[in-house]
Amino acid sequence: MSEFSEFGSREHDGWADGGIVDAYVKHFVPITDEVGGHIIKKHISTGNSVLDLCCGQGTMTAAILNVAGDVTGLDFSPEMIAKAIIAVPDAQIVEGDAMDMPFDNAHFDKVICNFGMMHIPDQPKALSEIRRVLKPGGEFTMATWIGPPTSPAFSAVFGALKAHADFSAAPPQPDLFAFAVPEQAKAMMASAGLEVVEHSTVMAEWVLEKPTELFEIFLTATVGAGMLIRSQTNETVEKIAGAITKYVADKCLEGSRYSVPVPVAVITARAA
Ligand SMILES: C[S@@+](CC[C@H](N)C(=O)[O-])C[C@H]1O[C@@H](n2cnc3c(N)ncnc32)[C@H](O)[C@@H]1O
Repeated sequence: MSEFSEFGSREHDGWADGGIVDAYVKHFVPITDEVGGHIIKKHISTGNSVLDLCCGQGTMTAAILNVAGDVTGLDFSPEMIAKAIIAVPDAQIVEGDAMDMPFDNAHFDKVICNFGMMHIPDQPKALSEIRRVLKPGGEFTMATWIGPPTSPAFSAVFGALKAHADFSAAPPQPDLFAFAVPEQAKAMMASAGLEVVEHSTVMAEWVLEKPTELFEIFLTATVGAGMLIRSQTNETVEKIAGAITKYVADKCLEGSRYSVPVPVAVITARAA
């Protein structure tokens, strides 16, 4: 049992919540699909057999299918699976767990995990599964958020959480930003027999009408940060909302709107 097993079970419940899933699709997917487009352009070729791990709503799975011609999506959320089947009816969409995949050894040329790894409680187990299902010489590419102080979006949110939240009110979580640090990514991948060959940054941003929107996005459309915010008292939630809103209002105004950069780390590793 992993030290993050309670977090894992709350993740499972969170991604089965239709309200969170719909808010995620509205607020995050424009960004995650943009990053997914960069990954596909650079790392997917015609004829590749690809696993889209933690495929979620299936929009990236559909884009992979267009290029590779052979894609399987895997996710543990029935809500997400239902959306993915609609988004990409010609792909194989499988309900399953990234830590125990229902695939043969050496099955895929490429495994992609776009913003999924940080949700997995036992990341070493998931990495060893990724290594197992990759053909020798195959490639794993993942995208993950870069943390503070580099990321304005996560500086706003985690600055406010660190200043006001009681972290013991929610179960402990794996370090959200671990893979964004090149040395940590290299060490974690190496433990699973994966050699990092590229660690790069892709820039994305939220453009918001009101400075209050960033807090609303994290409250309604995330599972990990959302579980931490929702575990606080009403008074604390108000302080967190106020601090995030102030950050956006003070630092992100551009013309009549608010531009909140959210840099992303993209890491590629090769199976030995
Ligand atoms: C942040 S969403 C990413 C969705 C999509 N890949 C994208 O780029 O927008 C994370 C996805 O990981 C899935 N997930 C989280 N933990 C998982 C696990 N242990 N096994 C399979 N799927 C998991 C969730 O159900 C959710 O669909």
